[in-house]
Amino acid sequence: MSILKVVRLGHPVLRKVAQIVPPDQISSSETQRLIDNMVETMKEYDGVGLAAVQVHESRQIAILEVGDNPRYPQKPQIPLSILINPKITPLSEAMEDDWEGCLSINEMRGIVPRYKNIRVLAQDRDGKQLDFVVSGFHARVIQHEWDHLQGKVFLDRMRDLSTLTYLQEYTRYYAEE
Ligand code: NI
Repeated sequence: MSILKVVRLGHPVLRKVAQIVPPDQISSSETQRLIDNMVETMKEYDGVGLAAVQVHESRQIAILEVGDNPRYPQKPQIPLSILINPKITPLSEAMEDDWEGCLSINEMRGIVPRYKNIRVLAQDRDGKQLDFVVSGFHARVIQHEWDHLQGKVFLDRMRDLSTLTYLQEYTRYYAEE
């Protein structure tokens, strides 16, 4: 396995809608290797999620996991999930605000409104159909990664840029104890 280079804001691949992964390509060794490398890369950089577009691959693959993460120490744990061709549907209009960061937008945080409860349809890395409901932080991470696959970043979802904050100032003035 290898650690991949993560693209930063400004790279055009971040602004393209990613390609659907055809079902018969999910099991290919090339797709499986990409997923393994994405997992390795996310762990290396202490991310809670990573979209394939962030490692130069314009394909509808997103991964997420929250363990004991130094970047998000107060957050609930999420098991490692591989979401291929994900679709999300809000279950209500209810939204909530929280801080987000992104491995492609180094050292910054901002407050982003997200739907509280969503239904997720996707395939897993074995091509099995997933259909589940999540809420809160878990729903937030999936919406953030889904956005990447549509060519969006969290800055596009902020109500305005008044809460955009460098990580050092975030830690000083806003971080939870
Ligand atoms: Ni991101």
